[in-house]
Amino acid sequence: MRLSGKTALIFGGGQATSDDPKAPMGNGRAVALTYAREGAKVMIADRDIAAAQSVANEIVAAGGTALAQACDVLQETEILAAINATTNAWGTLDVLHNNVGLSIEAGDAPITEIDADAFDHIMRLNLRAMVLAAKHALPIMREQRSGVILNISSIAATETYPWVGYKASKAAILALTEQQAIQNAEYNIRAVAIQPGMIDTVMAVDARAKAWDQPREQVAATRAAKVPMGRQGTAQDVANAALFLASDEASFISGISLRVDGASGCRVG
Ligand SMILES: NC(=O)c1ccc[n+]([C@@H]2O[C@H](COP(=O)([O-])OP(=O)(O)OC[C@H]3O[C@@H](n4cnc5c(N)ncnc54)[C@H](O)[C@@H]3O)[C@@H](O)[C@H]2O)c1
Repeated sequence: MRLSGKTALIFGGGQATSDDPKAPMGNGRAVALTYAREGAKVMIADRDIAAAQSVANEIVAAGGTALAQACDVLQETEILAAINATTNAWGTLDVLHNNVGLSIEAGDAPITEIDADAFDHIMRLNLRAMVLAAKHALPIMREQRSGVILNISSIAATETYPWVGYKASKAAILALTEQQAIQNAEYNIRAVAIQPGMIDTVMAVDARAKAWDQPREQVAATRAAKVPMGRQGTAQDVANAALFLASDEASFISGISLRVDGASGCRVG
């Protein structure tokens, strides 16, 4: 029980949906289940309230504690409402986990083809939402004199990546995390990022299959072939890293970004 007594708010903790009943878990759902299994009370804030509720139900059915909250992270008032719902329910906000992030589904493109509105949308969703979540979470954490902010970036931030919105927003998250770490260290608040590599999720694989009109298996095989370990990771791989970083075992770790990528980030050239 590595998060016993803690509360965690996960933005984007629902599950990207798919018609395939065997579809893999998304990062948000995997981390919600993992935090809850380790004793955390978990608030799942997601634009898709049905998805968030189904993850919360799964946690409660397994004996854990969770609530679901409808929240579009494009709306500052809804971010604030989710934070307030967490402290109203359980008194503290110990872990703020920012999982929401989109690329190709939001109209991302190479720089010479990017539509200005699509770029703005991706920056608002991937970056601005994390800024606003921290804006409202930090006063609570500073008052508590404890807390962890965990921002989900991507290996795209530091690796060659074709589309400009995702690349720029995920890279900015690394700088944001460092700023959050240095400016809040005196309050015993840590900020860390995770850079997932090729993870087998509905959002990553099925969205590309749809956009490129290819079977899911083909997209999955192409992605796996790009990874030095020869396979895609799972959302559980990312959740395991998040659990360590969110727990007191990582109490002297702040301002870092942890790659969870099967060595993809080591490739040069
Ligand atoms: N899957 C990968 O290969 C991969 C690789 C690198 C980084 N990531 C990052 O991991 C994160 C999660 O990706 P995933 O593929 O596991 O997705 P996921 O299954 O965790 O789904 C993301 C969730 O965000 C929610 N969401 C979307 N827009 C929202 C909004 N406006 N307000 C509130 N909730 C919203 C969705 O409903 C969904 O439940 C993203 O930040 C992504 O960039 C994923």
